[in-house]
Amino acid sequence: MAEEENVKVAVRVRPFNKRENGRNAKLIVKMQKNSTMITNPSDANETKTFTFDHSYWSFDGCKENKDGYFEPDPSHKHGKQFADQNKVFNDLGRGILDNAWAGFNTSLFAYGQTGSGKSWSVFGYGVNKGIVPILAEELFKEIDAKKDSGATFEVKFSMLEIYNENVRDLLDPNGAKKKGGLKVRQHPKRGFYADGLKEVFVSSYDDINARLEEGTVNRTVASTNMNATSSRAHTISGIRFVQRAKNDAGKEMEKKALLNLVDLAGSERAESVYGKYLGYGNYSERVESTGAQGDRLKEGASINQSLSSLGNVISALAKLSEGHSARVPYRDSVLTKLLQNALGGNSKTIMIAAISPADINYDESVSTLRYADRAKQIKTKAIVNEDPTEKLIRELKEENDRLKHAMKSGDISTEALQDMAGKEVLSKSEIDALKKEWLAEMKANMKANEKEAEDHKKTTEEKVSEQKSQDSEKESALQKVLEEKKSKPHFFNLNFDPQLSGRLVHIIQKSETEIGNQKGKESDICMVGPGVHETHAILRQDKKHHRVWIKQAEKDCRVLVNGDAITDEVELFHNDRLVFGSTQLWVFQNPKEKDSDKKKYPPITYEYAQEEIAAKAGVKVDSAGGGDVALLQEDLIDVMPAVEEANSISEELDKRVKFEIILISPQMLGKMQGTKAEGFTDMKSTVPEVCVKMKNLENGTEFIWPKEKFLNRLYLMKEMYNNYEEEDDWDLPEEKDPFQEDVNTDVNIGTVQVFLQPIAYMVEMKEQLEITDIKGNKIGVMNLEVAPCNKKGKEYTETDDMFVDSPEELVGKEVHFWFKIVNCRGLPNKYTDVHCKYRVYLDEQDITTDKISLTSNPDFNHKKMFSFTPATRQLIDYLNTGSIMVQIVGKQFIRKSAVAQRKQLTTKEMLKGDRGAFSKTANLMNGFQMNGRVVDPQKQSIVVELLLMKKTQARLQQRCDNMKKMLEKAEDLGRHGVSTRVIKSFFNAHTDEQIRAAVKQLEEEEDDEGYRSASPLSQNQQSSVCNLL
Ligand SMILES: Nc1ncnc2c1ncn2[C@@H]1O[C@H](COP(=O)(O)OP(=O)(O)OP(=O)(O)O)[C@@H](O)[C@H]1O
Ligand SMILES: [Mg+2]
Repeated sequence: MAEEENVKVAVRVRPFNKRENGRNAKLIVKMQKNSTMITNPSDANETKTFTFDHSYWSFDGCKENKDGYFEPDPSHKHGKQFADQNKVFNDLGRGILDNAWAGFNTSLFAYGQTGSGKSWSVFGYGVNKGIVPILAEELFKEIDAKKDSGATFEVKFSMLEIYNENVRDLLDPNGAKKKGGLKVRQHPKRGFYADGLKEVFVSSYDDINARLEEGTVNRTVASTNMNATSSRAHTISGIRFVQRAKNDAGKEMEKKALLNLVDLAGSERAESVYGKYLGYGNYSERVESTGAQGDRLKEGASINQSLSSLGNVISALAKLSEGHSARVPYRDSVLTKLLQNALGGNSKTIMIAAISPADINYDESVSTLRYADRAKQIKTKAIVNEDPTEKLIRELKEENDRLKHAMKSGDISTEALQDMAGKEVLSKSEIDALKKEWLAEMKANMKANEKEAEDHKKTTEEKVSEQKSQDSEKESALQKVLEEKKSKPHFFNLNFDPQLSGRLVHIIQKSETEIGNQKGKESDICMVGPGVHETHAILRQDKKHHRVWIKQAEKDCRVLVNGDAITDEVELFHNDRLVFGSTQLWVFQNPKEKDSDKKKYPPITYEYAQEEIAAKAGVKVDSAGGGDVALLQEDLIDVMPAVEEANSISEELDKRVKFEIILISPQMLGKMQGTKAEGFTDMKSTVPEVCVKMKNLENGTEFIWPKEKFLNRLYLMKEMYNNYEEEDDWDLPEEKDPFQEDVNTDVNIGTVQVFLQPIAYMVEMKEQLEITDIKGNKIGVMNLEVAPCNKKGKEYTETDDMFVDSPEELVGKEVHFWFKIVNCRGLPNKYTDVHCKYRVYLDEQDITTDKISLTSNPDFNHKKMFSFTPATRQLIDYLNTGSIMVQIVGKQFIRKSAVAQRKQLTTKEMLKGDRGAFSKTANLMNGFQMNGRVVDPQKQSIVVELLLMKKTQARLQQRCDNMKKMLEKAEDLGRHGVSTRVIKSFFNAHTDEQIRAAVKQLEEEEDDEGYRSASPLSQNQQSSVCNLL
């Protein structure tokens, strides 16, 4: 009994969040019945429509009831349309439940960018329960109703997290610490599974709820201690539901259903790197501008292998369902292995695509909708998993006998090995390794079978009570904390993911409590992470008066209280924000103090705490104005703690690198990125962009990284740090080390903007132009020339006089010119392989000069001729208004003597004098630390204008001279009048020859009788006109 059907897809749009509200975001999503419409914010005429099984409007039209539940508001115009949690459950969850009863496997995925509402739908928040808790609640309700039917029911729950291709068992706190996590193995019948994953019996909704809570706490521990970003992890909750009942023939039958509920990692990071080749559309530009793509370490690749593989699997499955052939790359990642059945096999599958309503997330939302659109084409074939119990037991036994036999003989076919490896040609050592792997897999499969057979021998009640006794100790510990929280002072954690905030609690029990990293000795409270010392801080408690103080254990232990670094003991007050090291963020709670004063305390969020720290560091947050400035502030708030963390890790691992935030004006960035096709860069944005400067403290080299590249690198640094913490072989070779940049990387030394207007008038330009560095400082000059020439390359001279009055005249004619970079003067003398690169008009490749090393005054003597036959209007426009960006680039030269001096110092010592997250050379601008002064992009163009004015002036002067000459000559000849033909010849004569010809014309011309009879007044007028000309 197999049912083939398409993956069911629902889209859900959430309300604006605080950030979006703060930025005055615009709503760009509309929904009508099953359709979702999204409008391009930069082109109101471009609206894309997607149709799904459901389109859920959760943007507005609701009100919060007294319990805090968001229910439809009938008085609102969208009240009817509003989809609350119950509606979503009734449409999707109810079906999953029915499937479970019918014996079908079901999978639910939530896909979407970070913060789009995936967890809201899957798990929910508080009383706004999501699909998983409601489903659990309903399942047990229905089981209770069928209690007396003679059937027995068994529910098992599991929860795992995939982070960085490691599988962590969230119900096994010790498992979370296990290196490398759980192994994913393949079972001939069950497909891929996580070996050793803890599945616990649950017999009530409360049981499941407690497990969900436990899983979330373990996620929080991992996220806090390993300073990992939870939105980069996938969470899979599994519910295994087994019904046993006698059939009409009196045979005991077993009906099984596995429910996989998958809360995927935020999609954007991986996509902005992968989107390009997955064809998701408009990412290429952003990827290029973020600079993440070009990076040697290809950070994106390792960041979310699982998510990008999922994209590939979905694409391949969609192709298959259209009748094309395609290989489905399940084996490429842990996630796709574990979800093989859910996606392409025995399962009914549902996907919820979560999107933001805001214009600022347009790209991400479109990408999510496209992804969902592809997913809806996938077909799966679910079968009812029902068999006689005794057959299952028999099969398990047979299977184990077979495995035993196979293992004994060590028999595995070459094809099977090839299949395992995913390739055909295998070396001897590869074969050996695979055989070993195969044996381990056999063993694991046997164990799994034995366990299942064992389970069959016990009654459900026995299993449940076994479980209960195992858990009782843990439960009472949890109860105790919950109780003590009400009266004793304590801390709770803050996490970037709101679901993980407040999950961890440390009760302050003693009069003196020590906080430390547990590396050498035990402390009362353990906090690990970069920058936390073995003994980091001491808390003193006056139990009688319910007061608590904090101080650093040593001078250089970083402890921030409400954003300020403390140096002496300070008293803590209810709701104070605390930072230990660089990543441990906590809120102090003092229930007794809170009860005694009548103050109102605001809820403290992660954002609140980060904004406070940023504000103390000089970044004032006032996003009321919205727009670009608010965006910049948010970027700063994101990057500041990240830079702090990176420096802490560098210090602890002695990586001899310091990171600093540097703000670069968009003009400068435009120049850095080189000329785009038309020679124009996007100068629309007026606020600077947040970049990070990586300074090698040992050799003095500096590299500027775009924010994205830095954040991706930080991810790898954290990975390195975690390995270091686990005392693994943590260090990496230079080319893989996230703290290293290849010293051979070309860096931007400076840029010159060369306006091409002279060519549009066919005028030669020989100028000395200013070279500015990325901060906008003048660092030298460049001598260059732009000279029009003929098609053979012969430069026009004054006497050729090719000057045109208007560039228009050149359209349709041939235009040739030389572009010459003669030399640079006054450059900083610390670069090798210095060269210039530039592009002209539609060039897609850089043109480069020769390379010159270690001089302030490189002579490039570069010249290149450009020919356009004929010149189009577009070209002339480009020449008239565009420019060439010449970038001077080179490699940083490392002075051995300086390195040797610093070799003796540790990173910590080198950082001592300067720990700031901002570049020291920063000036203050608009309340920001601003490194790059905004240079006037018009400066170079004024040079050009002056040149053209001179040229025009010279031409006018010549015309005056010609007219004067004509008058003198005419008077000499005793003429009374001159014909317009002659006047014109004089007027347009530029060369000596032309003048001679005009004179000749005048001499040969008959005196015009008409002038003789004209009145003296008109003669005067005529001459005055001539004079004027
Ligand atoms: N339908 C909704 N109604 C009200 N608030 C919502 C809704 N969906 C999401 N939110 C809010 O938006 C925020 C982000 O939602 P959520 O945590 O579900 O995102 P996510 O997609 O799981 O993000 P991440 O990838 O970081 O895990 C939360 O604070 C949540 O309260
Ligand atoms: Mg989430």
